[in-house]
Amino acid sequence: MDKILRLLILCASILAVRCAISATPIQIPNFDDWWGPEDAQENQDTSIRPFKIEFTKCMIKDLRYRLRNHRPFTPPLEGTASTYGYNTNSLETWVSYWANSYNFTAREEHLNQYPHYKTNIQGLDIHFMWIKPEVEEGLEVLPLLMMHGWTGSIVEFYKAIPVLSEKAKEKGFAIEFVIPSLPGFGFSETTHLQGFGATEMAVVMRNLMHRLGHKKFYLQGGDWGARIGNNLASYFPDELYGYHTNFGISNSLSTLATWLAGSLSEGIQKLVEDPAALGRLYPIGTVVKKTLLSSGYFHLQATKPYTVGVAMSDSPVGLLAYIFQLMSMITRHEYESTRDDDGLVFHYSRDELLDNLMVYWVNNAFITSGKIYSESLNSRNLNNGYLEITTPVPTWFIQAKDEFLYMSPEMLKFAFSNIVNTTAIETGGHYLAFELPELFSDSVITAITEFRRLAKEKCRTEL
Ligand SMILES: *[C@@H]1O[C@H](CO)[C@@H](O)[C@H](O)[C@H]1NC(C)=O
Ligand SMILES: *[C@@H]1O[C@H](CO)[C@@H](O)[C@H](O)[C@H]1NC(C)=O
Repeated sequence: MDKILRLLILCASILAVRCAISATPIQIPNFDDWWGPEDAQENQDTSIRPFKIEFTKCMIKDLRYRLRNHRPFTPPLEGTASTYGYNTNSLETWVSYWANSYNFTAREEHLNQYPHYKTNIQGLDIHFMWIKPEVEEGLEVLPLLMMHGWTGSIVEFYKAIPVLSEKAKEKGFAIEFVIPSLPGFGFSETTHLQGFGATEMAVVMRNLMHRLGHKKFYLQGGDWGARIGNNLASYFPDELYGYHTNFGISNSLSTLATWLAGSLSEGIQKLVEDPAALGRLYPIGTVVKKTLLSSGYFHLQATKPYTVGVAMSDSPVGLLAYIFQLMSMITRHEYESTRDDDGLVFHYSRDELLDNLMVYWVNNAFITSGKIYSESLNSRNLNNGYLEITTPVPTWFIQAKDEFLYMSPEMLKFAFSNIVNTTAIETGGHYLAFELPELFSDSVITAITEFRRLAKEKCRTEL
């Protein structure tokens, strides 16, 4: 009886959502939508300009002042680890490291080790790293667009770049990297117009690749980089050779229905689950509870990003606590209940964690980046027909153990009709390139190698 009731509720809810999101045909934003200042349209400079990251003396002085003059921290509740939010016991160590030991000059040099550029796309100055390999004649150079997400930045990819290059060489090709800061993130300009979310960013990213001479390319993304990647794959399937992601998500209602259906009987559950990733989908109650407890930031930013942003752009300590709490939780979920400190230094160096934070601080980018949630999770963005598109682009998923959202191949296939491989791994978290560059690079290069082999095979059979 209970099961029938659950099934009825399930069907009713899906129908309700289905009706709410009317099945509109897919609406791709225009390629030439203008997001910059209106009066700048006539004089748009489409050149590609070299760019250097700069930590100015003035900015450093101000940052140090703010770090050293924070008010006393409220002590955490005893024995609660980080379950009530960032445990303030470990804040002082971070603050003092950032103010006194973080070598701004050396880190600036470190961040500038790769060539940076800016170019104006649709009115926005888009920043990107563009790393072209030096190769012997005859070696094929493959363009790869890699996109970060929120709390992340270009910094996530620094260690993976040389590893990817090396592994590509072993396979007999080379990679030309394009690694942008998403608009409003890091060094890329934000728009002051309403209505610019992941969907619109996908078009900007596509236009960026065209500007750099790539009408077809490989794609890698995690977090929002994956949502934008999904958009690219569904809007412009003919422009992608293949898509690798460490954040496999399908927004299709059938995906949701499949997941819920799995809770009805053990038999269905077996069909929905990937045997290599048991425990990541069920029991549903446990997964929902965990998701609710860890996604407060999500709701906040999807509704009122400007309010919380006032504090974050004023206080580097606040910014650090907010971002490190999230990073800790989605690097290893258990840290939240087991550690007083964030445990981040077990996975990343202090300097590189602060490099990533600097990208937000220097550009005052908390609000302009954080609003991607509200600009992407609204009826306009959900009504544009994107949710129910299935992309035929060859896709490769790698799924880390502590990734905060997990979907099995059975669930993913509603959005991806050409899944080449899904590998659930027993390690790693949300920032796979940043945390495990070797493993990440292995997966990306294996995927690209397989995409190429399949394309060649297809070409032969078509002849
Ligand atoms: C900071 O880094 C610069 C450049 O690498 C170096 O010359 C300088 O000695 C370092 N400062 C300290 C205090 O270590
Ligand atoms: C997916 O890729 C992994 C790693 O290369 C490999 O071990 C596995 O057999 C592949 N799975 C499928 C279904 O092709």
